[in-house]
Amino acid sequence: MQDRDVKDTARAGEGLRLVDWAERSMPVLRQVRDRFKREQPLAGQRVAACLHVTPETANLLRTLQAGGASIALCASNPLSTQDDVAAALAVHEGIPTFAIKGEDAHRRAAHLAAVLTVGPTLTLDDGADLVSIVHGERRDLLPGVVGGTEETTTGVIKLRSIAARGQLRYPIVAVNDAITKQLFDSRHGTGQSTMDGIVRATNVLLAGARVVVAGYGWVGKGIAMRARGLGALVTVCEIDPVAALEASLDGFRVVPMLEAAKDGQLFVTATGSKHVIAAEHVALMRDGALIANAGHYNVEIDVAGLEQAARAKRAVRDLVEEFEMADGRRLHLLASGRLVNLAAGEGHPASVMDMTFANQALSIEYLVRRAGTLDPTVLAVPREIDRQVAALKLESLGVRIDALTEAQRRYLASWSEAPE
Ligand code: NAI
Repeated sequence: MQDRDVKDTARAGEGLRLVDWAERSMPVLRQVRDRFKREQPLAGQRVAACLHVTPETANLLRTLQAGGASIALCASNPLSTQDDVAAALAVHEGIPTFAIKGEDAHRRAAHLAAVLTVGPTLTLDDGADLVSIVHGERRDLLPGVVGGTEETTTGVIKLRSIAARGQLRYPIVAVNDAITKQLFDSRHGTGQSTMDGIVRATNVLLAGARVVVAGYGWVGKGIAMRARGLGALVTVCEIDPVAALEASLDGFRVVPMLEAAKDGQLFVTATGSKHVIAAEHVALMRDGALIANAGHYNVEIDVAGLEQAARAKRAVRDLVEEFEMADGRRLHLLASGRLVNLAAGEGHPASVMDMTFANQALSIEYLVRRAGTLDPTVLAVPREIDRQVAALKLESLGVRIDALTEAQRRYLASWSEAPE
């Protein structure tokens, strides 16, 4: 196997600086790494990882390596790869890395195949790509795999549907569903980095802007919250009555997309679904509207429909395409409809990825320690891991909390102690 495919190994030094900078904001992962170094819980494990190639991911891989694992890495999204980080991993960390920003589908498929040549005992996914291949054309690898982890909502949905058909062959921890991931990474990380990516791509003023957020899950909540914080007038579109009610009681205007489309200036999708912004919505949008996606796949916006309806298309800035419609309106698509926070920004700040990746590292340790005893299904992150991650993060922030007194513990455990 060729041992790397990165853009430019000469950029490894710059990449290393970014990885080291991120490490400073990842105290929880550092503590896990120190313990892994001593205890070697992953000795002999071979990890195939398909993740966003960012400085934070590099620190996760350093942690797994410290625990004794050997690793190969490819990119879960062709646009989120930071080429200098990929070079640093290949050159300075000795990790076979196969990732080039903007790689086409053909090269990406070759990269996925390359990481699987390690003969993985563990798969790490962000979108279930490796799992899909190992359950498809590379079923020969199945007997060697102990378990896997999945990082994002879209991947977990896919895995649950494989599991529901009884076709999942090894246990996978849904790191995505950890409370310390959802609350902080999906909400605060995506919220901040999505607004950051949009501003970097367009330099638009958000104060007073009419922003439409599609989806009020963890990601949508974060985006809506941060957009409002920047002074935007935020509208939420939902299909779920509970989520819609929550958005409404959180003080957002809630209307169907067909109505929001008429007056929105910036649209951001975060649903995990398909064609949430479709031709019928585009037909109603105002001249100058900006359209971006923060959901996992680039299917949330019907880009083909937009192209068909347009009479001309041109790049007006890096990562901003202008579509001139038949009636002269100009609509702007950011980052080709891919994850705008990663494609136009730097993704989540290291401080939130610290918790997500500590969950990853500890879940991997859990899978290895319990190898052969877990059912081949989608598993929740054990509650103790979530609590441990939160406790370590609080400690690193210097935040102290109360503990139950013995009398309180007894009171809460007893059904007979009467209130005074
Ligand atoms: P979620 O499942 O908690 O929320 C999605 C929400 O969208 C739900 O409330 C659902 O009712 C709503 N929805 C579904 N279809 C809709 C439609 N047609 N119109 C309006 N609303 C609709 O999911 P979560 O965790 O918020 O993730 C959303 C997406 O973001 C997923 O694709 C996930 O993989 C991705 N994601 C992206 C990140 C990033 O860095 N950009 C980080 C984390 C997740």
